Amino acid sequence: MKLNEHVQIVGTNVILVPYESKHVEKYHRWMMNEELQLLTASEPLTLEEEYQMQQSWRQDEDKLTFLILDASKFKTTGDEIDALIGDTNIFLLPKECDDRDDDLKTAEIEIMIAEQPARGKRYGWESTLLMLQYGIKHLRIQKYRAITKDTNDKAMQMFQKMGFREVKRVAVFQEVTFEVTVNDAWLKWIEQEVSKRIESYH
Ligand SMILES: CC(C)(COP(=O)(O)OP(=O)(O)OC[C@H]1O[C@@H](n2cnc3c(N)ncnc32)[C@H](O)[C@@H]1OP(=O)(O)O)[C@@H](O)C(=O)NCCC(=O)NCCS
Repeated sequence: MKLNEHVQIVGTNVILVPYESKHVEKYHRWMMNEELQLLTASEPLTLEEEYQMQQSWRQDEDKLTFLILDASKFKTTGDEIDALIGDTNIFLLPKECDDRDDDLKTAEIEIMIAEQPARGKRYGWESTLLMLQYGIKHLRIQKYRAITKDTNDKAMQMFQKMGFREVKRVAVFQEVTFEVTVNDAWLKWIEQEVSKRIESYH
């Protein structure tokens, strides 16, 4: 969506920036990796399709995406492409979605720290919380859903530590669904856990 096309979220160790065409080549290289395809349940795309995907993330009103920069690397080199380490997305679920059992505005959250050396440094934690917070504030999201592979201990532990609860397991797809309902106490906890500045991005 266009909501964040000129927005960057400056956190402590990460900076979230809108997904632009200049980022597509590096993003495409990441998504050629079979492990990442499996963990993120993504199909491989051609470079051309990846450019179209970047456009659809920008245009479609049900999708929000930010790319994640390693803040210290970016501050040292000033090279945004070099500092890219992953992405985080919000996908608004349609009201008529099969397995919705309430009227709460619900979105799926996705997170990927694609660069192996950047994993395990709490960048995934901080980026996800910044995105969850942004969605609550700017899209009035009332409930989040996260879907992981049942072998992805890292992601499952992360979402559980954030307060998500397992609601569904589909063995045939090896998938686990987690959900959390937004409330004031949880939002307050996120605010205490991360600090940020919203700045303009050009
Ligand atoms: C899953 C992922 C987002 C976690 O991000 P990260 O930056 O590597 O992890 P963090 O350092 O932020 O850790 C956050 C929490 O995740 C969990 N976690 C991280 N590494 C872990 C590990 N090796 N084993 C178990 N839990 C782990 C822990 O709960 C951790 O909290 P803690 O530090 O208080 O123990 C990241 O590893 C990733 O993108 N992996 C590949 C793609 C993917 O799996 N995406 C999720 C698809 S649903």
